[in-house]
Amino acid sequence: MTGSPADPHAQARAAREQPLLLHSMAVFRELFETIFRCREIGTVIEVGVESGQVSSIYADLGATVHCVEPDPGEELRAVLAGDPRLHLVEGSSPAVLGELPVGDLYVLDGDHNYAVVRAELAWIMEHAPGAVVVLNDLLWPCGRRDFYYQPSPLPPGDRHPDTADGPTVWHDDVTPAGFVGDGAFTFAAHAGGERNGVLTAVEDALDEAGGGWRLEIVPAVFGFGVLARTDAPGTADIFDALRPLTSSGLLAAMENNRIALYTRVLQLQYELTARRDEADRLAETVGAQQREITRLKSELDGATADNAALRQDVERLRAAPPAPVRDQELGEAVSQLGRALSARIRGRSGPLR
Ligand SMILES: C[S@@+](CC[C@H](N)C(=O)[O-])C[C@H]1O[C@@H](n2cnc3c(N)ncnc32)[C@H](O)[C@@H]1O
Repeated sequence: MTGSPADPHAQARAAREQPLLLHSMAVFRELFETIFRCREIGTVIEVGVESGQVSSIYADLGATVHCVEPDPGEELRAVLAGDPRLHLVEGSSPAVLGELPVGDLYVLDGDHNYAVVRAELAWIMEHAPGAVVVLNDLLWPCGRRDFYYQPSPLPPGDRHPDTADGPTVWHDDVTPAGFVGDGAFTFAAHAGGERNGVLTAVEDALDEAGGGWRLEIVPAVFGFGVLARTDAPGTADIFDALRPLTSSGLLAAMENNRIALYTRVLQLQYELTARRDEADRLAETVGAQQREITRLKSELDGATADNAALRQDVERLRAAPPAPVRDQELGEAVSQLGRALSARIRGRSGPLR
């Protein structure tokens, strides 16, 4: 148990220092160790590699690894190029499976939808029936709802109507505040029904096989499934060794708890972004209003100065009234004063707004 009396903060430190492995099979290292202990595994076919952070685990356990990834990035190329035990296979499963050596272990973590997983299992069950098959995402959210990497290569007939919104555990509808792909992937708009989801694909493959295969699920991190023929070497040992995890109600409860908290965090992040956008909009409005107030103030200052000057003129005239003049001279003087005043007003005020 971490957090000994000598170091009361050890567990907290380990928690914050551990990289977030929310979606990586690296968290299942101990389960792979168990599988490798119970079954001789020389060749691993890893379907869906992404960053390559898991591939070396299989190699460290003694296997040659064929890493199938349709669109490998520079980081992945560099990771795989630096390790002669790892072989990059640039292509999509299931199409490339037939071009590779037959595997002792298939790790299916690529496109998490019925059509792809069903086709992968059909190929493996026919051509590599002695292999152990590990599948991720057998539980929420992909167990009963298809997930499609984008752009999806699947023909429309193999896809359910999909959406950029994502599932949450807080209600049954998809929502922009749910588990969304931001363009990288979409989900089927509806969960359940025929030919929908990864677990449904496995169940249908097992039905079609008509017996001889066994599936167990470790209910953690979206569901870790192990599938093997009951008569293959090591199968009974693998399932015996995994039983404390595959039968654990505690683990299932913790997974439910984890996805509840995880989807709550996603929702809070969505709301935070919406509030930040709203705050930015308000800040822009306040800025524009402040600029308008400054402009109006300077206009007011100008008008106040004009007013003061006019008052002075009036007071001067009152204090020293001009000598009486003839009507014509008076008329001219008045219009001159009028012209002077209008010129002053025009000069100060500028154009009317
Ligand atoms: C969930 S990630 C894999 C994560 C990786 N197994 C790990 O644990 O770190 C899924 C990957 O599968 C890839 N992928 C999608 N469709 C695929 C297909 N048809 N065949 C193989 N890989 C696929 C995606 O590009 C993505 O990198």
